[in-house]
Amino acid sequence: MKVEDIKTIAVLGAGVMGHGIAQVCAMAGYEVYMRDIKQEFLDNAMQKIKWSLGKFVEKKKITEDAAKQTLDRLHTTIDLKEAVSNADFVIEAVPEKLDLKKQVFKEVDELSPSHAILATNTSSLPITEIAEATKRPNKVVGMHFFNPPQIMALVEVIRGEKTDDETVQVTVDLAKKLGKEPVICSKDVPGFIANRVMLSPLNFVAWLVSEGVYTKEEVDSAAYFKSGQRMGIFGLLDFVGIDTAYYVLKFMEEREPPFKVAPIIEERVKAGELGVKTGKGFYEYPDKMWKVPSSWKKELANKFNPLWPTLVAINRAAELVALGIATPEDVDKAVRLGFNIPIGVLQLADQMGIDTVVKNLEDLAQKFGHIDALKQLLEPHPLLKEMVSKGELGRKSGKGFYTYKK
Ligand SMILES: NC(=O)c1ccc[n+]([C@@H]2O[C@H](COP(=O)([O-])OP(=O)(O)OC[C@H]3O[C@@H](n4cnc5c(N)ncnc54)[C@H](O)[C@@H]3O)[C@@H](O)[C@H]2O)c1
Repeated sequence: MKVEDIKTIAVLGAGVMGHGIAQVCAMAGYEVYMRDIKQEFLDNAMQKIKWSLGKFVEKKKITEDAAKQTLDRLHTTIDLKEAVSNADFVIEAVPEKLDLKKQVFKEVDELSPSHAILATNTSSLPITEIAEATKRPNKVVGMHFFNPPQIMALVEVIRGEKTDDETVQVTVDLAKKLGKEPVICSKDVPGFIANRVMLSPLNFVAWLVSEGVYTKEEVDSAAYFKSGQRMGIFGLLDFVGIDTAYYVLKFMEEREPPFKVAPIIEERVKAGELGVKTGKGFYEYPDKMWKVPSSWKKELANKFNPLWPTLVAINRAAELVALGIATPEDVDKAVRLGFNIPIGVLQLADQMGIDTVVKNLEDLAQKFGHIDALKQLLEPHPLLKEMVSKGELGRKSGKGFYTYKK
């Protein structure tokens, strides 16, 4: 199959992600069947889509006519057969529960045309296991959009063990047709690319606070006042939803011991204090709007080194490159677009010097490696050490993760 053969897309689940994905597909000219389990969920989703299209028209991103045509291409149904029986491509966005997703994939496999590609928008579950529920595991793929899909450009295309090249290529091409920036993740490792690289350092910092080495205000004041991170670190977790980060981190814990979710993150989730959306997370938000907490102070900013989380991110990114799971370009694109940061972590590593990165990680491992859950995150990846021994030190030597003209 080629991307040009795709005419009809089914989107399963009309929640936070599903309605946005359905809208993006319809805006790109596809006939879209959006399915949920109750009509009221679909009606609610259509309201949100109309509101979002209205915003696009208001900002002159699309014409009123284009908005109307988009709505004409969107069909809603609670009948799974109606949704998928004519679909060339299916995107599943039901809740993040493995058993539910497997059940959905089993039914979709039976009801959809044999040529259809079946994609899942899972943030953390293994594509390989979801694919096993079908008789076409070669046509099952991860297609991970970021929230909100109407705005966020990144789409991670994730290969399960049996996903074939054609499926990956068509999915990448479809993401481009939707106006997105795809990256390829060649193995369904927990967290895939962006969340794996960027949530690991957040968990590292949360461990230091859990262990009483620093306070969250010291960490965030340093991140905010010294390295210009607008939301700090715990503020960022409050903004994205502590539960969202927790489920991805929990999955890393289950699959990759001794990795472990930091106690302060788990405590917040158990208490139902999930961040801005619940009015309380690591900080309080009485209006349910994010703002800089008053407890962040310039005089606290000198205690914590805000470079440390970046070193952990670089170490995680190096592992993905070493294992052939993603190219340096795709790692950097994923973290830039997934987390709205101006420069990729491997570009940054090249700028810092790979020897400096290794030395700093070794120092960190010595300082905090006694915390079991952190050992693996802080030990410099063998690839980094190998680069140093080969003289591939980054920008200053002309070659690092990237090549530079001298
Ligand atoms: N929310 C995010 O920021 C985000 C980001 C990226 C990926 N994801 C992933 O996207 C998926 C959906 O997440 P969400 O936040 O949109 O969840 P959500 O709870 O907002 O929406 C899920 C929807 O699926 C519906 N549903 C349940 N069973 C169904 C079935 N059998 N068939 C069709 N619909 C069914 C529910 O009624 C609900 O409307 C999850 O896998 C999640 O990990 C979420």
